[in-house]
Amino acid sequence: MKVDFAGQVAIVTGAGGGIGRAVALALSDVGAKVLLVDLARERGIETESQIKARGGTALFVAADVSHATEVQAFVEAACHAWGRIDVFMNNAGWQGEIHSLVDYPVDMFDKVMGINVRGVFLGLKYVLPVMMAQGKGAVVNTASLGAYVATRKLGPYTASKHAVLGLTKTAALEVARKGIRVNAVCPGPVDTDMLREIESAQASGSVLSLREQRAATIPDGRYAEPAEVANLMVYLASDFASHITGQGIQINGGSHA
Ligand SMILES: NC(=O)c1ccc[n+]([C@@H]2O[C@H](COP(=O)([O-])OP(=O)(O)OC[C@H]3O[C@@H](n4cnc5c(N)ncnc54)[C@H](O)[C@@H]3O)[C@@H](O)[C@H]2O)c1
Repeated sequence: MKVDFAGQVAIVTGAGGGIGRAVALALSDVGAKVLLVDLARERGIETESQIKARGGTALFVAADVSHATEVQAFVEAACHAWGRIDVFMNNAGWQGEIHSLVDYPVDMFDKVMGINVRGVFLGLKYVLPVMMAQGKGAVVNTASLGAYVATRKLGPYTASKHAVLGLTKTAALEVARKGIRVNAVCPGPVDTDMLREIESAQASGSVLSLREQRAATIPDGRYAEPAEVANLMVYLASDFASHITGQGIQINGGSHA
């Protein structure tokens, strides 16, 4: 068997970010047409340009995943452009601010939940009917190591990623007999802008030494590269993973083994 997505259509949310761009490029490299979604227009257009420069087919749609009408619009854009959705990388996320629970601003809690939980829910709500009509599809939600393990001062993020696993499992059960698989990836630290922002907020001294200390606690001694997470996501979306559904798959260099 070969990893071959020729003729398939994928949607990637958060496609302007580290993991989203890596998975969009990886899907394009194995033949998929990719609809790119991000709130940040410039970053999304940059991913579109990179795919086109490699000879792939991509279309960027600016959207906020926490708004139902905008999610409906990007689902319709994919169907209008290419007539189907085979793969959905439900990946956009935000870390929120860094505060203890008692100091956490209520509106900030709602914002984290809005993007990470409501956004993932809306993606499932509007993409799954298209896949059900086809009798085929694969969804990969981006959860986190934070779906299993808490981090001080990242309470809403931690809760939101636990919730992503709950949505993943529920969706998987609901569509298991309809030719659709739904899984989640649960990465430990990945070297992206999100992690750099968290580290800048957490570091009392040098960010570099915080990174070195953190990396040293990981059994293989380093953070993940976005492309490594992308490889797992492509595998889960492929026929190689044909009997895997309802799972959170950890990718973390051996942490918590
Ligand atoms: N970087 C890590 O260490 C790490 C670890 C575990 C899980 N994750 C998860 O991976 C996913 C991707 O994060 P990343 O590390 O690539 O971060 P990133 O900041 O590089 O990318 C996130 C992207 O999501 C977009 N986005 C944010 N809010 C959005 C919204 N409301 N609508 C549409 N797009 C929105 C941002 O503009 C950005 O381009 C997130 O769900 C994150 O929680 C990251």
